[in-house]
Amino acid sequence: MWDNKGSIIFRVQQPLATDTAPLLSVLNHYHQRLENLFLCQQEALVEQRFELASQLLSHYQALLSAHIQLENSLLLPLHEKVEKPRWASSLYLREHEKILTLVSRAKEKLDAAQSEEGRSPRRGAIALLDYQRTIKGVLEHHEQREEQGLVPELSAMLDLSEEIKLAAQLEALWQQSFAERQDALNALLTQLDLDGLSYTTKL
Ligand SMILES: [Fe+2]
Ligand SMILES: [Fe+2]
Repeated sequence: MWDNKGSIIFRVQQPLATDTAPLLSVLNHYHQRLENLFLCQQEALVEQRFELASQLLSHYQALLSAHIQLENSLLLPLHEKVEKPRWASSLYLREHEKILTLVSRAKEKLDAAQSEEGRSPRRGAIALLDYQRTIKGVLEHHEQREEQGLVPELSAMLDLSEEIKLAAQLEALWQQSFAERQDALNALLTQLDLDGLSYTTKL
């Protein structure tokens, strides 16, 4: 296209993510949002603000649980129909249980640390962050499997219109679970930024 001065105008039309890889883009987006929230909780730990970290971890636990529940109920039953999957559906299910158990233990440890005597808050924070490294490692591998195995295998099995419908359903439900907590999360994140550095993270 040319403008009236004879210069060429490039009209770049970004394709909607949902036109190309709808399921992958939705899953990836929510993995990032969850990771972001987990990191905010770790920022609070670094500052030894255990109560704030505990509240952020509670929200993370609930949102992760909602994420996993939908994967279990909407994606894995479909995945069971994939012939010769790279990783079996049962593996994702077992990993989900493991991840929820690890996060639940991390929450218990964090709450116990607040009333722990005889250990400096700094050492307490280090111990908690060390424990959480396991969660981050397990999650990283699990999400890689979902993004390299589960999702591409479902995409290959479904028609594009079916995939778009499924992705929209997941997006709406996950978005709802974040929206229900958005005000509470914003208030906690504002506390995290009270040092005036304003790193406020958009979740
Ligand atoms: Fe998962
Ligand atoms: Fe996931």
